[in-house]
Parts: sequence; structure tokens; C-alpha cells
Amino acid sequence: MPNFIDLKELTTEDLIQIISLSIKWKSTGAPKFMKDKQAVLIFEKPSLRTRISFEVGINQLGGNSTILNEKEMQLGQRETIEDTARVLERYADMIVIRCFGHNQMINFANTSNVPVINALTDYSHPCQVVADLVTIKEHLIDFKNKKIAWFGDCNNVLQSWIEASVLLDFELNIACPEGVVPHQETMTWAIKKNNKIKIMHDPYLAADGANCIITDTWTSMGDENISPEKIFLPFQVNENIMSLADKNAIFMHCLPAYRGKEVSKDVFEGMQSVVFDEAENRLHAQKAIMHYCLS
Ligand code: CP
Ligand code: NVA
Repeated sequence: MPNFIDLKELTTEDLIQIISLSIKWKSTGAPKFMKDKQAVLIFEKPSLRTRISFEVGINQLGGNSTILNEKEMQLGQRETIEDTARVLERYADMIVIRCFGHNQMINFANTSNVPVINALTDYSHPCQVVADLVTIKEHLIDFKNKKIAWFGDCNNVLQSWIEASVLLDFELNIACPEGVVPHQETMTWAIKKNNKIKIMHDPYLAADGANCIITDTWTSMGDENISPEKIFLPFQVNENIMSLADKNAIFMHCLPAYRGKEVSKDVFEGMQSVVFDEAENRLHAQKAIMHYCLS
């Protein structure tokens, strides 16, 4: 059974199928394909949306979930990650993990005989970007000929956006300060497959005609003190940036958001903001992701 670790491991067809199923089940409700199934959710970092959307989703699909938080379990400390995986697969049908090190996730997944889902690492956040793609499909109909513009830090969420742009072949402008760069290895992989990704240091140029403007916190969990916030100030998404985008452009943010920092209050609360649709779509997207892993 497949894991769900990074979008680049999916085919384009897999990703389109996951997005379509999320949208379908949002309106029809999903079948109870997790009846008698047990999931273990491991959260080494805080979470509101990811944890609750998995828990509620598993419940609605007829399954059960058990949560282990940072205090109850520190991955790789009391016993090796490999031993933890070999124990948990004896109890559970699926493991969902949010942890600091991406390699810990990979080691876990390589050992586990039950599917492992990446609920965020320091490297990527694929579940979030599936929900975001669902939101784009709902509001903008398609990805074809669309321009997505990312502002601010080159973090885990952006990493998954880069992979999505390769799979779905849309333009991705990355507006970031000089010296803040996405993972070089992924960029090399992406540029070979899709030359529609541009790294730009002029936020106004990046916003020009964009259909979707996205940002995220300037300080990701575990990245505290890496880059001073002031270098991100020119990349704040505010009315000036939104006015350059397409007139029907949407604003997205995975949340939690810091008003007055990466996004102005006006934009966050404005008509173009679809951030709470994104949050809702986490629930529908998790169901389609779990279906992909269990079928
Ligand atoms: N967007 C997101 O993953 O939120 P949480 O950290 O609250 O899960
Ligand atoms: N980039 C953020 C996303 C939070 C959902 C972080 O890793 O903290």
C-alpha cells in the first residue's frame, strides 16, 4: 500500500484523482471505507487543522484514531524509529506523522508495513497543498494557464507547491528575499521537468496578473531565529500586492496567520481571501489521501 510522503512521488493522475475525490466527497459525503480500521497519529509539533481534520475525518469514515503527542512520544529517543514503526504496524492500519526531521519520516515509512502519511515535516507539507489545490479548483475551476504567486519564506509548504506545479504544469512565481532559497535539489528536479517556476526578488513583478496569491508565516515551527523577520517585510501580502494580481485573484494562507506580518489585516479579512475554505478542505482532502493509501 502506498505511503503519502511527498507529492513528487505521485503521478499526475494520482494527484488529479485525489483532488477530484475530495471535491466529490465534499458534496456527497464519503463511504465508510475505514470501518474497523485503526490509525495512529503522531504529533511532535503543535497542530489544530491537521490533527483535528484527520481525527474527524477518520471518525466520519468509520475508523478509530489514537493520538500520541510530543510529551508521550519523542520519535527516535526512547527507542529507534525503526523499532517504533515495527511495533505500531502490529496495532494500526495507518500512521500519520508530524515531525521535525523529514529523514525521520522517511526512515519510519521505509520500515513500516502499513501506510505512512506526512502531516508536515521541516521539508514539506503535502496534505496542506492537496487541500489548497482543491480550493483553487473550487474557486478558479482549473490549474491550466493559471499563475500562482508565493510570497515570503521558502518553507515546507512552498516545497510541496513546487512539486504540485511540476505535476499539474502551472506557473509558480516565488517572491522571496535574496539568500532565502528553496531546497536546491528539488529546484534542480523541478526545473528539469517544468520551466514555469520562477524565483523573483521583486514582489510586484511576482504578483503581476497572478490568479492566486499565497503566503505563510515567516517563522515556521522549529525554524525560529533562522532569518530575521525584517528581510521579509517587502514580501508582505497587502492591498498593493493584491491590486497587481488578476481582478478575480484569490488569497490563500494555510494558517495560522500573523496579521500585520506576512499578510495585512485588510487582505486576510478581504473579499478575495479564501483561507477558511482552505481550512475546511483539509477535512475533505485528508479523506481522499487516506483512500489513496488504503486502496
Ligand atoms: N495548516 C496547518 O497545517 O495547520 P496546523 O498546524 O494547525 O495543523
Ligand atoms: N510553515 C509552517 C506551516 C504551519 C502549518 C510551519 O511549518 O510552521
